[in-house]
Amino acid sequence: MAVEMLERADEGQLVPDPSRWAVEVRGLRKRFVTRQGLPVGWGFGNAHWIISSLLKYRQKREWKQAVDGVDLKVERGEVFGLLGPNGAGKTTLLKCLATLLSVDEGEAYVNGYSVRTQPDEVRLSMNLVGSGHWAAFDWGMTVVQNLHFFGALYGLSRSERSERIEHTLERLGLTARAKDTPMTLSAGERQRMLLAKGFMIRTPVFFLDEPTVGLDPDGAREVHEFITRELIGGSGTSGILTTHRMDEAEALCSRIAIMNRGRVVACGTPLELKRLVGERSVLEVRAVSVPREVVGEVRALPGVRAAALAPVGDESLEESLRVHCEDVEAIGRRVVGMLERAGAEVRSLESQDPTLEDAFIALTDRRLA
Ligand SMILES: Nc1ncnc2c1ncn2[C@@H]1O[C@H](COP(=O)(O)OP(=O)(O)O)[C@@H](O)[C@H]1O
Ligand SMILES: [Mg+2]
Repeated sequence: MAVEMLERADEGQLVPDPSRWAVEVRGLRKRFVTRQGLPVGWGFGNAHWIISSLLKYRQKREWKQAVDGVDLKVERGEVFGLLGPNGAGKTTLLKCLATLLSVDEGEAYVNGYSVRTQPDEVRLSMNLVGSGHWAAFDWGMTVVQNLHFFGALYGLSRSERSERIEHTLERLGLTARAKDTPMTLSAGERQRMLLAKGFMIRTPVFFLDEPTVGLDPDGAREVHEFITRELIGGSGTSGILTTHRMDEAEALCSRIAIMNRGRVVACGTPLELKRLVGERSVLEVRAVSVPREVVGEVRALPGVRAAALAPVGDESLEESLRVHCEDVEAIGRRVVGMLERAGAEVRSLESQDPTLEDAFIALTDRRLA
């Protein structure tokens, strides 16, 4: 079903159509060298390279395929979500689209420009707001001075800069910190400052990489409101937002691609994706000290389609086991019995509607957390 839902680009050569698509990606691949062979840092400087060249030493390289053949299209005016766990390849994909990384294979167009052959045009068309890139600030200048500096780099006049900075800081709840240096801000405030820097510059396409990382629930809500009002609310911009939080993807994105291990495993509206779970119900069991092998046993029960375990978070020791099954009551009783026999302490049991995470579980047997 996932394959059916996957929206494939048209066969043949990809011809960009920027009037309809803000971003078009076809067969994009990117891999990293993770090991060069000989150990590095053994104290001889270039000796390792010279010796290996002289001895024609065959280095055993290792690769990590971070993006493994991604196809997607982002419509004009749409906020498109990339939802996947850590390491799925979301940031790497955005960096390729932002021309910060070269592409190994495939092609991508941003605002109609090729990331391979028109990188300057791509850079003028888009704006990437990363997460935790706090080194991007001058720590000796105040928040406002930093923003003026970046605005000037983009060629904004002083009056344009002042107006946009004031507006953006107010919308992000940072006005009170305008005259402070980044050093004195909390992690959440710094993340908002990063967003302010990105949102101050208006480009046809934006890329937001995990925009609410490090924010508390109130901070995250402010950022969501800001994105909804300023970016989705009719400004004509389009973009891609990455997240590992299903609530964020659902709140902000009209369509979502679920990514796992470098691939898009499904793509559609939140509703279409949730339908991947099918007619089955979802049973959530909260328990403490769940032995890992029980999850496999639950998955093997007749009537169970998928099961996956993840910590609840929030410093709680509880874990949450989500089970996709036909008959919640019967399976619930059996699962509780299995968990208790295995030494787990069951705290609660509940039947729930499928979430976007359940779509991910149905496709991968893994949790997003
Ligand atoms: N510069 C790099 N060198 C080697 N491996 C990398 C590099 N950047 C990312 N990776 C690896 O590529 C995979 C995808 O990473 P990333 O795109 O950051 O995932 P995500 O943003 O979805 O968490 C991960 O396994 C990561 O360890
Ligand atoms: Mg990332």
